[in-house]
Amino acid sequence: MDLQGQTALITGASTGIGAVFARALAARGADVVLVARDPDRLQAVADQIVGDHGVRAQIVAVDLGDPGAADVVAERVAAAGGRVDLLVNNAGFGAYGDLVGADPVRLADLVRLNCVAVVALTARFLPAMVARGQGAVVNVASTAAFQPLPHMAVYGASKAFVLSFSEALWAETRSAGVRVLALCPGATETPFFDVLGTRDSVVGAVRTPEQVVAAALRALQRGRPVAIDGRRNALLARGGRLLPRRMLVRIAERTMRPTPARI
Ligand SMILES: NC(=O)c1ccc[n+]([C@@H]2O[C@H](COP(=O)([O-])OP(=O)(O)OC[C@H]3O[C@@H](n4cnc5c(N)ncnc54)[C@H](OP(=O)(O)O)[C@@H]3O)[C@@H](O)[C@H]2O)c1
Repeated sequence: MDLQGQTALITGASTGIGAVFARALAARGADVVLVARDPDRLQAVADQIVGDHGVRAQIVAVDLGDPGAADVVAERVAAAGGRVDLLVNNAGFGAYGDLVGADPVRLADLVRLNCVAVVALTARFLPAMVARGQGAVVNVASTAAFQPLPHMAVYGASKAFVLSFSEALWAETRSAGVRVLALCPGATETPFFDVLGTRDSVVGAVRTPEQVVAAALRALQRGRPVAIDGRRNALLARGGRLLPRRMLVRIAERTMRPTPARI
């Protein structure tokens, strides 16, 4: 995949899957726009990318949960004279625990970042891609998208939203020369679990962010609407669709139940 002369905007690019995405796209020649809240961590990733790959790297430090954040990002990109050829909506976080007892403010923040910001940024940048007849959007969903997720209900629902949204956009734009991909990692070794505060949600082997990004780039090149990283993850995600929904959600409840020893 040659991305010389193209610009990729990656949200959540200061660490984890987003930082690996940014490096992988820069290695293929793309200039990058890195978005997250912490300017120091963003600058460190940007400096490393510029040093390693000789591309341009712009940072935009913004809380994507804020109303109007997508406008701020679009204005900063435009002010730098850039355009976005590849958008990676990756920023997101999880919240573990039952709805009863959960902090409603944090759950609303989760929906604003995992869902509202994804729609807002896609709505800002996709129309120009369609007008140019080229471009790509990668929305980071999760294997959590394939079944309801008791004990992590809002996170699971947010990722089901991202999957449904992305598949619909894939169909809407495929004849326009634009690619839309829902990337569905399973458990991946990143600071995600530090933010979550538990590893009780880990199902199966933990993969690396490099494996996740490689799966995304392969799927993008093939024009696929959905990429599930890892053979076992794919089997579980797709296999679950064969079960009656009520049975599936009961299995998911048992799998996601808090481990007593860790409480
Ligand atoms: N790791 C997994 O097991 C796993 C599995 C499936 C799906 N995913 C998904 O993969 C994506 C990336 O997760 P990750 O594992 O790489 O997690 P991570 O290492 O915690 O990275 C999250 C990134 O999002 C940024 N971010 C968080 N809140 C933000 C906000 N309000 N505004 C702007 N940026 C924000 C963080 O930077 P700042 O804190 O500086 O803002 C960071 O760069 C998420 O959508 C996650 O749901 C992860």
